[in-house]
Amino acid sequence: MSTVAGNGRVRTEPWGDTVLVEFDEGIAWVTLNRPDKRNAMNPALNDEMVRVLDHLEGDDRCRVLVLTGAGESFSAGMDLKEYFREVDATGSTAVQIRVRRASAEWQWKRLANWSKPTIAMVNGWCFGGAFTPLVACDLAFADEAAQFGLSEVNWGIPPGGVVSRALAATVPQRDALFHIMTGEPFDGRRAAQMRLVNEALPAARLRERTREVALKLASMNQVILHAAKTGYKIAQEMPWEQAEDYLYAKLDQSQFADKAGARAKGLTQFLDDKTYRPGLSAFDPEK
Ligand code: COA
Repeated sequence: MSTVAGNGRVRTEPWGDTVLVEFDEGIAWVTLNRPDKRNAMNPALNDEMVRVLDHLEGDDRCRVLVLTGAGESFSAGMDLKEYFREVDATGSTAVQIRVRRASAEWQWKRLANWSKPTIAMVNGWCFGGAFTPLVACDLAFADEAAQFGLSEVNWGIPPGGVVSRALAATVPQRDALFHIMTGEPFDGRRAAQMRLVNEALPAARLRERTREVALKLASMNQVILHAAKTGYKIAQEMPWEQAEDYLYAKLDQSQFADKAGARAKGLTQFLDDKTYRPGLSAFDPEK
């Protein structure tokens, strides 16, 4: 696919205006790139991210996606001017539905169900709508000094989209309601304490630690990782009987889809060859 960039040049990949993508040993570093606006998510960025996620799903250079932000911000949330004021000014319900759809499409629908592992790396400000892609990613690491905030009440709206739903999926109710209702910001350390992110790290260690985990995931069996994460996400909404049936079906499906035959090889290596301890490391299909 070729698109015309803002500077008039033709390019073959669907990023470059509001999003950057760099490849690094199986990791796609996807950077929200409106640093002058603290990476606030406007309709153009939302449209571009839908295309980026579609493209990367079929790009073999990407085995793991890391989502982060340019400059001093992860994302300052929805763009108050372009996503709210300018859309309101059109007076068009159709326009509002369309921009909301693109926003939801990448921030949680595609991201939460993405076929490859996803990690949010929160490098700075993270406000309002930015909580949605943060929670939709499978894992999250934050700068311990990053500032998070559910600032919606400060400017006259309750959190919209699925922000509150995303909080309910990660953070205990007392913490969620405290920050939803007071709008008080909190830092990366606190985000890790309330389990909004996996770990909080000093700024100098954030990229290194995120990369370390991303490289581990990139080296693993992608079919099994997809089955494992999807199974967890879908089963948590199910009654136990259905969850058991679904998860066994998922297991059987993954054996069918896994051309590397990890299960059979892993069993042979552990039970017969005695060369492998599955409790201690990931299966290596090359052995
Ligand atoms: N929507 C639109 N524009 C935004 C924005 C947002 N969510 N967040 C920041 N910007 C813009 C500012 O308007 C400013 O634009 P300008 O240079 O054209 O005036 C620019 O980004 C820099 O913002 P500024 O406030 O000067 O940066 P800062 O580093 O002092 O503060 C924040 C950073 C994130 C604390 C502050 O910008 C802020 O409070 N943003 C709003 C966060 C929010 O409530 N988000 C919830 C949306 S759902």
